[in-house]
Amino acid sequence: MRKLIVITLLSVIVLFSVSFTKENLRNIYSRPSSAWPKPFIDEGVIWQELGVLPPGPLEKQMDSLKAVIELGKALFFDTRLSGSGKISCATCHQPELNWTDGKVKSIGHEGAVTQRNSPTIQNSWYYNRLFWDGRSRDLQDQAFGPINSETEMHSEMPEVMRKLRRVKGYKELFKKAFGDEEIDPFVMTEAIATFEKTISSRKSRFDEFLEGNKKALNNSEVRGLHLFRTKARCINCHNGPLFSDNQFHNRGFSNGDVGYYKVTHIEEDMGKFKTPSLRDVARTGPWMHDGQFNSLEQIISQYSIAKFPPGTNPLLRTIGLTDREQKDLLAFLKAISAPPLAFSKPVLPE
Ligand code: HEC
Ligand code: HEC
Repeated sequence: MRKLIVITLLSVIVLFSVSFTKENLRNIYSRPSSAWPKPFIDEGVIWQELGVLPPGPLEKQMDSLKAVIELGKALFFDTRLSGSGKISCATCHQPELNWTDGKVKSIGHEGAVTQRNSPTIQNSWYYNRLFWDGRSRDLQDQAFGPINSETEMHSEMPEVMRKLRRVKGYKELFKKAFGDEEIDPFVMTEAIATFEKTISSRKSRFDEFLEGNKKALNNSEVRGLHLFRTKARCINCHNGPLFSDNQFHNRGFSNGDVGYYKVTHIEEDMGKFKTPSLRDVARTGPWMHDGQFNSLEQIISQYSIAKFPPGTNPLLRTIGLTDREQKDLLAFLKAISAPPLAFSKPVLPE
């Protein structure tokens, strides 16, 4: 009898403390982020707290830039920018695939396989440097790359200019956008870049949670948020409102690609890649610079059990997450992925 009482008492205590910690975590994260628990950040890491989605950079100028955006959108979808006439920017950055192509590596001119996986162009305005290896400084500069690339669009600027100048509708669109029907590479890439700056994520359930709807995340997702900031250490690199520190790191899975080294020629940068934003990450697979992972479960378990060879980033450690913790982290990654926005493709000028 006495044994029974002890057991009952013990289980009441256990149950109480379990529900208390659960309750506690939700309450803690219901406070403003400045009152959240201290994240596990390594010494010397410059970081920013996670936060609500910031407005796009052109949010306040959408009206005055309407014609430029419309022109850029047409150019983005126009296969006449390619040598074969078959490939547009949207071939590899498709709106229905969250502005990726869903492939391990992209297929470009006449079936050529590109060196890397096609990243989403969504939120690309946020990065200080573009491409996985950071070789471009801004979106306008970036747009020259694929047009001239052997494996991507395989065209040349003078040829693209000749083709576009023959299209009457483009003369009108350029005139509306820039007040002059003259078409040159700089205004063309400016229009494309302006259009890209209007492509942002949508609000996710995580944003709704931060904005006060405390039912927007379930318990597993709240635990995932806590893990992301603490034991799993993801926040060391995936931080700030877009879940990227805008830096380059070697995760130890570079697969022979020198990455950022190609830009800096500094030994230390060998195998480093840009930290990708994790907003909408559930919809941007296959993942990593070379598309080496085709499930988020795989990535999380890899991050969890991986042993890192010496010389890789000291921020990367074996974090040893339990099965449940891995599920919670996955649930959180899904909660920062918003449902897709309907997008209407442009009618191309004749
Ligand atoms: C054949 C497929 C293909 C085509 C066509 C293509 N891209 Fe890409 N795009 C890629 C790949 C692959 C990368 C990553 C390359 C790298 O990092 O080395 C990329 C990277 C980018 C990035 C950088 C994103 C980031 O996070 O750093 C932007 C922006 C972009 N492309 C825009 C464009 C525009 C604009 C066009 C048309 C002018 C275009 N792309 C045409 C495959 C393509
Ligand atoms: C040391 C910095 C660092 C830490 C810590 C880190 N990441 Fe990453 N993460 C990166 C970099 C850099 C890449 C791109 C690497 C590549 O392409 O080879 C990446 C890629 C990813 C991708 C693929 C995204 C895409 O669009 O392809 C996911 C998902 C991801 N990380 C999730 C996590 C999670 C979850 C954690 C915590 C368990 C975490 N990361 C911890 C730096 C980091």
